[in-house]
Amino acid sequence: MRIDILTLFPNMVKGPLEESILKRAQKKGLVKINVLNIRSFTHNKHRTADDASYGGGAGMVLKPEPIFEALESVKKSDVRVVLMTPQGKRFDQAIAKGLSREKHLIFICGHYEGIDERVKRIVTDEISIGDYVLTGGELASLVVIDALVRLLPGVLGKEESIICDSFYSGLLDYPHYTRPRVFHGMEVPSVLLSGDHEKIRLWRRAESIKRTLKGRPDLLKQALLNPEDKAILDRLQGK
Ligand code: ADE
Repeated sequence: MRIDILTLFPNMVKGPLEESILKRAQKKGLVKINVLNIRSFTHNKHRTADDASYGGGAGMVLKPEPIFEALESVKKSDVRVVLMTPQGKRFDQAIAKGLSREKHLIFICGHYEGIDERVKRIVTDEISIGDYVLTGGELASLVVIDALVRLLPGVLGKEESIICDSFYSGLLDYPHYTRPRVFHGMEVPSVLLSGDHEKIRLWRRAESIKRTLKGRPDLLKQALLNPEDKAILDRLQGK
């Protein structure tokens, strides 16, 4: 996969791309991530990428020309162009999965009050990472890139498997423990030390359902629950 990030603040995105799993994925050649400075595609004396808003009002708007030019420099035919904006579709695991199947993604990070509306003609997707406003799309694009790169085949090792992720099966993840067995008086649940794999599997599933019921009951409505899960849920709800 190839990813291009168009931004006015390249340093805001470069650091996280050079750490941990994102770094490893690039080293392994599973993804190539390229950061482009939109300002490099301006041609006026002061290299301005923004301008006042037509119609008046406070705040500056990102000009369309440098963004179009930056895009043209990397755009091949088959590409999804993602604009990061609070007006976009709310990001979730299903969108991450869909994007992870693409060959080439271009992320445009907006800044200031907004971006000239005409840029949207070349945009295929508008994504928001939540109902709050960030200073720009940089951190948001990193969130999306992190979530989709870890889904690319070969990026995660077996020990980091995505099968057990929160949301993989529509439920939140179960609790995890490691040594020591007792920490500050808190003990690891005894079932996890039992060596009984079936008991452990059932306990984990029940904990997943319990957490989801407590923290995200909305997810339970859409989750695909098998009869065993339904029995666990009934028990938790005292039915
Ligand atoms: N830019 C500013 N706020 C944002 C958000 N919540 N999601 C995506 N891009 C943004």
